[in-house]
Amino acid sequence: MLLEVKEVSNTYIRRSLFAGPQVKPVLDRINLTMRQGETFGLLGESGCGKTTLAKCVLGLIGYEGEIRIDGAAREKKRRRELAKKVQAVFQDPSTALNPVKTVGALLEEPLKIHRTGSGSRTERGRQVDETLALVGLDPSYKTRFPAELSGGQRQRVAIGCALMLKPKLIVADEPTSALDVSAASHIMNLFTTLRRRLNLGLLFISHNVKAVYHLADRIGVMYQGQIVEMGEAGAVYEQPLHPYTRFLLDCAAPDTPLNNDAPEMTEKNRAQCRFARECPWSSPRCVTEPPELVDTAPRGAPPHLTRCRRLRSLRLFHKRPAPRL
Ligand SMILES: Nc1ncnc2c1ncn2[C@@H]1O[C@H](COP(=O)(O)OP(=O)(O)O)[C@@H](O)[C@H]1O
Ligand SMILES: [Mg+2]
Repeated sequence: MLLEVKEVSNTYIRRSLFAGPQVKPVLDRINLTMRQGETFGLLGESGCGKTTLAKCVLGLIGYEGEIRIDGAAREKKRRRELAKKVQAVFQDPSTALNPVKTVGALLEEPLKIHRTGSGSRTERGRQVDETLALVGLDPSYKTRFPAELSGGQRQRVAIGCALMLKPKLIVADEPTSALDVSAASHIMNLFTTLRRRLNLGLLFISHNVKAVYHLADRIGVMYQGQIVEMGEAGAVYEQPLHPYTRFLLDCAAPDTPLNNDAPEMTEKNRAQCRFARECPWSSPRCVTEPPELVDTAPRGAPPHLTRCRRLRSLRLFHKRPAPRL
């Protein structure tokens, strides 16, 4: 397995001088796995904990539970070794790139830090040219500074930086959210080409249903720090099982990204289905007993997990055709 996330939980603690420490649960026992070369789309509205999960996978923050990358546990002493295998692309390329370095220097930097390849200058130059071509920029961009590029070109450079060490896994946290629609669609096309050409594992995080559906092999839907549905992209899209997934798809039909803030997970709503208050199909049991994530696919079919008690009654509603994305 390329990535195994087992029972990962995370809590932010805010220390305040007067009120004492405030504990805020953000991730609640997340489980997911990714195969080599697979694209996993993590879908959910802002505030549900997507970036926090990405940071855990990248080893930028601590967590409870276990994360294994290419079979190796995420330990402190392995940081350098794992850094080569996992790279990140973030939302805003204008803050991700060092403004005083040229594109050439930015791309060369990971090679210098990790001392890979033959180490000669010409060899590094060759790898920089190769990566520039891969992300669709011509070699003349090497001498430019990030400020002299458009948003889309900057994101291409950021993706190039992530590719320099030939990682097995790229974590892309909303890589198109800071771009205008046409630049965003070019970057989406670039990801599609890259994953085909490089056999790259891609953890693609987004609040945009359409983007995730077109790019991912499998989708995980996250709501208030929990995975509420997970399965093959086609199955999740055509037969969404969880009421929240239905809601997301209905909202996305006229191509509206979901940018509204979700109600937050609190200690109080932990012991219930977190979507119960908004769900048109909820029953009193949804509030008193939290549902577990269970596989509901027929025998022999790929797993399709969902966290909903009312599934049997909901199947009646599934006759509705999926919106066209
Ligand atoms: N450093 C932090 N300290 C305290 N709370 C945080 C911190 N970062 C994020 N949060 C909170 O954690 C929740 C999840 O945040 P995040 O993972 O950024 O969500 P997403 O990426 O899905 O929008 C939010 O409610 C946010 O307010
Ligand atoms: Mg985020």
